[in-house]
Amino acid sequence: MNSNRKSKIENLKSPVYLVGAGPGDPELITLRGRRLLSEADVVVYAGSLIPPAVLDMAPADAEKHDSAKMTLEQIVEVIAKAARAGKRVVRLASGDPTIFGASAEQSEALAKEGIRLETVPGVSSVTAAAAALGQELTLPEICQTIILTRAAGRTPMPENEQLRELARHRAVIALFLSAALGKDVQRDLLEGGYPPETPVAIAARVTWPDERIVRCKLDELEETLRREKITKTALILVGEAVRERGHRAKHTRSKLYDPAFSHGYRKASV
Ligand SMILES: C[S@@+](CC[C@H](N)C(=O)[O-])C[C@H]1O[C@@H](n2cnc3c(N)ncnc32)[C@H](O)[C@@H]1O
Repeated sequence: MNSNRKSKIENLKSPVYLVGAGPGDPELITLRGRRLLSEADVVVYAGSLIPPAVLDMAPADAEKHDSAKMTLEQIVEVIAKAARAGKRVVRLASGDPTIFGASAEQSEALAKEGIRLETVPGVSSVTAAAAALGQELTLPEICQTIILTRAAGRTPMPENEQLRELARHRAVIALFLSAALGKDVQRDLLEGGYPPETPVAIAARVTWPDERIVRCKLDELEETLRREKITKTALILVGEAVRERGHRAKHTRSKLYDPAFSHGYRKASV
C-alpha cells in the first residue's frame, strides 16, 4: 500500500472490524474473527446469511443489529455512534466480505466519519462450494481461470462484463446472486460459446445442514433450478473443471509434482 494512504488510514481512530463469517458452518470463521466477535460490544450482521451459532460467539449482552432491515445510512449511523462511544464493533458479513459484500460503500462512508473499517477475511461460498464438490477449480491444461460474477438482475452489469462476453473464455464461471435468473444465465452462456453439454454444479446453502449439490448440463440449467426449486443462496458453477471425477476425457497433472520437472525445491528424478 502507498505509504501516504497507509498513514492516512492508520490515523483514523477506532477500528471497526469487518469480519467474514464464512459460508454457514460456524467452524469456518477464522480464529481472529471469532476472537473479535467474542470481544464485541456491538455486532451488525447480515441476517439472512449469518447462522445463529456464529452470532452466539458474541457476548449474550452485546447489542445486535440485523443489517438486512437497514439502509447503508442506518448501518453507518449505528456503527459510527458505537465506535465514537469507544465500543468494540464488529460488522459481520457472509463468506468473504470483499466478494459481493457491499463493503466498499460502508468503508468509504465510515472513513468520512473518521472511522477505519479493517477487514478480516472469510471463507467464501465459492471455495466452500468447490470443497463440497470435492473438486479443484483450476486444472492444469483444462482450466486455469475462474471468473467470479453474477447475472444482471435489478443490479445492472457493466457493459464490458456481459455474461455473453465472459463466456468466450470458457473458463470456470462462478455465478453469485443468480439462482433466480437461470433462464438468462443459460441463454447468455450458450450464446457466448459454452457447448450445451458443459457441466454445471449448483451448490445451494453450502455447509448449512440443508446443503444441496445438484449437477446438470448447461442446456438443462433453467429446468434444473426450477425442478429443484432453488432460487437463492446458491452458486452456479459452470465449466469443464466442474465435470465429475471419472467423466473427464482429458487427464492432466501439474508440473509441480511431475518427476520429470525440476524447480527450486526439487531436481527432476527421471
Ligand atoms: C451477497 S452475496 C455474498 C457472498 C459472500 N460474500 C461470499 O463470499 O460467499 C450472496 C450470494 O452468495 C452466494 N452464497 C452465499 N452463501 C452461500 C452458501 N452457503 N451456499 C451457496 N451460495 C452462497 C449466493 O450466490 C448468494 O446469492
